[in-house]
Amino acid sequence: MRAIGVIPKKREVCLFDSHPHPVIRSDFEVKVKALEIGICGTDREICTFVYGSPPVGQDYLVIGHESLGEVVEVGAEVSGLKPGDLVVPSVRRPCADPFCQSCQADLQDFCFSNDFRERGIKGIHGFMTEFYVDHSKYLNTVPWSLRDCAVLVEPLTVAEKALAQVWKTQARLPWIKKNAPAHQPGKGLNAVVLGAGPIGILGAMALVARGFRTFVYSRSRKPNMKAELVESFGATYISSETETPEQLAAHVGNVDLIYEALGVSSVSFDVMRILGMNGVYVFTGIPAPKPAIPVMGDELMRNFVLKNQAIIGSVNADRAAFENAIKDLAIFKKCWPQALSQVITGRHTLEDYRKLLTTEEKSGIKNVIVLS
Ligand code: BGC
Ligand code: ZN
Repeated sequence: MRAIGVIPKKREVCLFDSHPHPVIRSDFEVKVKALEIGICGTDREICTFVYGSPPVGQDYLVIGHESLGEVVEVGAEVSGLKPGDLVVPSVRRPCADPFCQSCQADLQDFCFSNDFRERGIKGIHGFMTEFYVDHSKYLNTVPWSLRDCAVLVEPLTVAEKALAQVWKTQARLPWIKKNAPAHQPGKGLNAVVLGAGPIGILGAMALVARGFRTFVYSRSRKPNMKAELVESFGATYISSETETPEQLAAHVGNVDLIYEALGVSSVSFDVMRILGMNGVYVFTGIPAPKPAIPVMGDELMRNFVLKNQAIIGSVNADRAAFENAIKDLAIFKKCWPQALSQVITGRHTLEDYRKLLTTEEKSGIKNVIVLS
């Protein structure tokens, strides 16, 4: 079977011809035919060999974790899934430590032991291949009406998990959801999104859908394609080349939430100082290690304390985040069909892998490989 992966020891990115065809080995497993797979920064980083590890005892790792597939076979004990169903798998798999309470509770996104595995990233092969097998509990059913955009479910779970963490944190402000309509809990609140890549744009859509006044702060000056896209679904695009963080803050008012989806620590810490009263800052980016940067430590620390701020990190994702992502995609598709379709800027064949994964400049927003 064909698969895309890396051989870290040889620093090679390859198209393998003879990755073994997977077979169902337990009654709870499901075999899935891969339809589409998204390419993200993590994949590109694995292809620079700073991240990513093959399964124990193997020298290569099949990459890919943003999958959309179709069920082709189910084990005897699988209920709720049948051949022909569309599915999106989650990425993290629990560690084996019986004392890891998070993994024992199916919340491996909070794994304590750090021995979790991630399909296509850490210790298990991923989905950039023709077929894969997984336990049914890691597969999330997607309606066929979302066939054209469901490859965005996994990246959207980054925002869904982060927002769930934000609401849990803000439960410390008992009035916060009370004055807003139930479907728009963010009504009356201001959010700043850092970055206009897929995680930023999908996060901005989720924020607008929840009623937040949403500002996307990104580098390129207007006019540009991402600014137009962002403004077409009701967020405001502001270029960091034309407005400083202070000017941005003056524009926004109290910054109740900063959702970081940039992965650049210098900018992310620089913008932290505009976080408002009782605000939450949530990090989702995972930068590769680089030399230390200066931060305005005293000012930030004063703000954290005097403004009751919370700074949290969030890695995806539990089942609830996948379910919410699937629900939200249906809402995005209904409200902003064109904007949603513009998030996928390119569909490519497997043979295009090298250009997509290893060239310096990434182009467009979300690039997708079509497998069948
Ligand atoms: C994936 C996550 C994963 C993270 C860190 C992201 O690109 O979407 O599922 O936890 O990388 O490996
Ligand atoms: Zn990803």
